[in-house]
Amino acid sequence: MQFPAYRPRRLRKNENLRRMVRETDLSVDDFIYPLFVTPGEGFKKEISSMPGNYQMSIDLIVEEAKEVKDLGIPAILLFGIPEVKDEAGSEAYAEDGIVQRAIRAIKKEVSNLLVVTDVCLCEYTSHGHCGIVRNGEILNDITLELLAKEALTHAEAGADIVAPSDMMDGRVAAIRSNLDENGFQDIPIMAYSAKQASAFYGPFREAAESTPQFGDRRSYQMDAANSLEAIREVALDIEEGADIVMVKPALSCLDLIHVVKQEFGYPTAAYNVSGEFSMVKAAAERGWIDERRVVLEILTGIKRAGADIIITYHAKDAARWLGE
Ligand code: PBG
Repeated sequence: MQFPAYRPRRLRKNENLRRMVRETDLSVDDFIYPLFVTPGEGFKKEISSMPGNYQMSIDLIVEEAKEVKDLGIPAILLFGIPEVKDEAGSEAYAEDGIVQRAIRAIKKEVSNLLVVTDVCLCEYTSHGHCGIVRNGEILNDITLELLAKEALTHAEAGADIVAPSDMMDGRVAAIRSNLDENGFQDIPIMAYSAKQASAFYGPFREAAESTPQFGDRRSYQMDAANSLEAIREVALDIEEGADIVMVKPALSCLDLIHVVKQEFGYPTAAYNVSGEFSMVKAAAERGWIDERRVVLEILTGIKRAGADIIITYHAKDAARWLGE
């Protein structure tokens, strides 16, 4: 036998061979597309740091949701920007809050599209933190009640999945029991379980107008240096009743996606966040990278790491490219 006996290049010779032995298949089925809903009518404003993404009023969000569905994307993730923000983030859990009204409108007009809702206070509080603030501290336990209320109003409006992103301790259990007590035992929770205090959320905070007015989120979001703690966070959320667990951000956390999937075998989501999106867009606009190839490579990498679900602002483009 001649050396080398095994020549990996034999199976790379042409596209049919490569297709046959490809290990990871990226599909439109994997995507969730985030949308930002605002008050008003006929309102559409591009988010400057996230080209191609908009704040939109309910009427236009409904149209957008139809387009997303027609592209074959199974789900959207809704974020709300309220008319007024206050200390307690009241519109987050108001029956006629912006997200609650948007869910009703989408559910009325668009069939066969999952509506996932972000459950958090930061878009609704005047101080921009994800919980109730007293003396400069973000209080955990009284925030839980509000989050549970918010999730319930989303479910009542017709949300298919609720996704708590606040990182308060115990919120999955609080939300689960409030949903169960009110007849929503079949609504799944997708928990932002290992969510890091990350600089990659910068552009999102422009989109959601949710930059904290003082301090930062490090007293509740995870330290990016920790992976054993990420496992504990995921274990805790599963114990409390999470159906889908999430790692966020995605690109700087591929190791966590991998270990979470291996360790728990739960449906695992990864959030390809705003800053990751904006970096690609900026480089592509300058002609420094091939956007299409880079995006598909990134999304495939996230899937290969172990993600079953990828929340991404690239979803519409990727759906088109995968369909070609
Ligand atoms: C709300 C929330 C954030 C993101 C998702 N939900 C922002 C934050 O925690 O500061 C970030 C999404 C993104 O950057 O694309 N808590």
